[in-house]
Amino acid sequence: MNVLHTERLTLRTWRDDDIDAFVGLSSDPEVHAFLPGPWTRDKASAFFANQNRLYERDRTCYFASVLRASGALAGFVGLKYQDFDQPFAPCFELGWFLGRAYWGQGYAAEGARASIAHGFGALGLDEIVSFTVPDNLRSRRVMERLGMRHDPDGDFAHPALSPGHRLSRHVLYRLRRADVDPAGQDLGAALAPRR
Ligand SMILES: CC(C)(COP(=O)(O)OP(=O)(O)OC[C@H]1O[C@@H](n2cnc3c(N)ncnc32)[C@H](O)[C@@H]1OP(=O)(O)O)[C@@H](O)C(=O)NCCC(=O)NCCS
Repeated sequence: MNVLHTERLTLRTWRDDDIDAFVGLSSDPEVHAFLPGPWTRDKASAFFANQNRLYERDRTCYFASVLRASGALAGFVGLKYQDFDQPFAPCFELGWFLGRAYWGQGYAAEGARASIAHGFGALGLDEIVSFTVPDNLRSRRVMERLGMRHDPDGDFAHPALSPGHRLSRHVLYRLRRADVDPAGQDLGAALAPRR
């Protein structure tokens, strides 16, 4: 199901026939420098089912992100419910993952802006968070470009990884609805890219 459209992307739920493209994107070690991986077919299939289940429940998930011009799967972008044992959770987390060929073209930020508008608009959220490992400077730059602010008091060890894991430590970024939309209206204009 197509859920969100941007100028260049469609954000939609996952289909079984996404699997070859997704596993292909994930096979590049560079995209897993800061994320566990790569994804096997079984893991990807379980991921698709879980995201689609979350979409049914929450009306948002990490969406399959497809180039409108070609139909190619570029990766995922979206807001996902997270409920783990941290002071900032439960929360809706903005996350992204693009195949290497799709970096450096603004797709992550473009999909993220649509996700933020959806979160603060249709979903009625007051706050969106994002997190990554401290060295993932590309990801942090996207967060900062979106107006998210690092909250050092929220930095944490990711509960899905053992404390000694090289990717355990995470930095927390926050965006409150009032930060982008002080007047409580016109989210589209408030989130337009400023380049
Ligand atoms: C994190 C990740 C999504 C960031 O991708 P990215 O391509 O750097 O981010 P964007 O898609 O927003 O692109 C922004 C860059 O594109 C450039 N750009 C080119 N054309 C653009 C356009 N039309 N609009 C906006 N930016 C554009 C910008 O200048 C910017 O480059 P800069 O950061 O060097 O200034 C990507 O590195 C990735 O998928 N990594 C692997 C998975 C991962 O680590 N995910 C995060 C886990 S928390």
